[in-house]
Amino acid sequence: RVASADRHEDFLQCLESQNFNSISKVIYTPINSSYSSVLQFSIRNSRFNTSATPKPLVIVTALNVAHIQATIRCSQKHGLEIRVRSGGHDYEGLSYVAVIVPFVVIDLINMRTVTVDVANKTAWIQTGATLGEVYYGIAEKSRTLAFPAGVCPTVGAGGHISGGGTSMIMRKYGIAVDHIIDAQLIDVKGRILDRASMGEDLFWAIRGGGGNTFGVVVAWKLELVPVPAIVTVFNVTRILTEQDATELVHRWQYAIEKFDDDLFSRIFIYRANSNQEGKIMIQAAFTSLFLGGVDRLLSLMQESFPELGLVKEDCIEMSWIESTVYSAQFPRNSSLDVLLSRRYSSSFFIGKSDFVTEPIPEIAFEGIWERLSQVGVHLAELQFTAYGGKMDEIAESSTPFPHRAGTLFQIQYAIIWFEESIEADAKYTSWIRELYSYMTPYVSKKPRQAYVNYRDLDLGVNNLGYTSYKQASIWGTKYFKNNFDRLVHVKTAVDPANFFRNEQSIPPLPSW
Ligand code: FDA
Repeated sequence: RVASADRHEDFLQCLESQNFNSISKVIYTPINSSYSSVLQFSIRNSRFNTSATPKPLVIVTALNVAHIQATIRCSQKHGLEIRVRSGGHDYEGLSYVAVIVPFVVIDLINMRTVTVDVANKTAWIQTGATLGEVYYGIAEKSRTLAFPAGVCPTVGAGGHISGGGTSMIMRKYGIAVDHIIDAQLIDVKGRILDRASMGEDLFWAIRGGGGNTFGVVVAWKLELVPVPAIVTVFNVTRILTEQDATELVHRWQYAIEKFDDDLFSRIFIYRANSNQEGKIMIQAAFTSLFLGGVDRLLSLMQESFPELGLVKEDCIEMSWIESTVYSAQFPRNSSLDVLLSRRYSSSFFIGKSDFVTEPIPEIAFEGIWERLSQVGVHLAELQFTAYGGKMDEIAESSTPFPHRAGTLFQIQYAIIWFEESIEADAKYTSWIRELYSYMTPYVSKKPRQAYVNYRDLDLGVNNLGYTSYKQASIWGTKYFKNNFDRLVHVKTAVDPANFFRNEQSIPPLPSW
């Protein structure tokens, strides 16, 4: 404890000596009365907000690049590990929890400027901005420009884009990293690099190779994409007997292959209350965003998925920016200002992911319904997200995100609960693991792929000390397929001592 206290003091002195004097205003330690509120403000998973969760020695809510550089330098000098936090949505809490204590959090909440250049259809955004702030900033300047990133407005641009960034216009435009054209990064030596000075290998790696691995990304330059003035959304919920649900969901897998690129489609599947005869009912919410008006959408749906029975009354026309508010489930006609809110009702949450390359046979769905019906919890659901369209045209090696041609749809498994209890955690962990195991025959193989932004430490973790290429490739090839090798080479070149690391950061090759 004495050693830790000394390190703490030395580290703080180092920070203050490096940085004129403004940094002292943004340093929070456990003796500071605001420490807990600053730490907890961006914790999005209550599983990592308990008394047993390891807490940082210091949080630095950097105001500028110099604060980040100073924190990197002093952490290196005093042997402290760093965690970088943008929106705090990491499923495993890796942006604010570390196994090795003491550690330091660089929280980017104060670095969130969004500057949109309509004439050139670009924007520079600081990585502490949320996606909601980015969308709002774009909409202030144009209603026919957009950026293809995630649905939840409180997600941070830092972590989200570092891991890929799937969205409701990905079938038209690909994902967020496909539209990053420059970046500002602070590397392990504290240098400020842009695309030209970091070189194409490192620029490739930071666009999807996972956060907290190659340095601190301070800002991204986005290429904005055109959207029509009117888009159409629908969220059609069908409460079905198990058999009807099986037929409709099974059929969807074939329909999406024929969907127009302008049409995004996702199904949320969860258990509804049993019907009067006590039969299990499955609720399937078919959610879409269509880049066009309702009439064309209806005719496309009639051609490709008539079984859904979509009618005009199910559909709402609106602008793209309104669709971001709608998709985030704010009440209809909410002000766009809701996109700026960082308020988030935290719950206990576990998520996992899979990619499906062949339609899942009908028989397999019965096992899923059975498992959904057995778990008594606030919410257990599967999300099926259609791939295809533009995603098929982008080469697997174009960015570290490899889930491109051949992917039919993605699955996210999620379980959410509200009571803090070790028993509940153990029960729901084992439920989701068993479901994941059940799905093995029906999803991608060799490797069984997973999405790095739906971080899952069950896939494998690094050692506290040295981690071999072989060990890391267990989880690394699931997230990155063959791109894992190139990521390891970039990491070895830019951070050979593995300063930026976490349980699933790319390890460097040893120098011996
Ligand atoms: P957080 O701050 O926790 O960072 C995540 C990781 O990136 C950590 O390892 C962190 O250290 C690192 N990091 C953060 N900022 C960094 C920076 N500036 N430089 C270097 N490293 C940095 N995904 C998706 O693709 N589409 C979607 O629609 C959604 N929707 C969604 C909804 C909800 C409710 C949640 C909880 C999550 C999603 N996600 C998602 C997943 C999301 O993209 C993923 O969790 C991101 O990593 C979150 O980024 P944050 O910055 O919020 O997280």
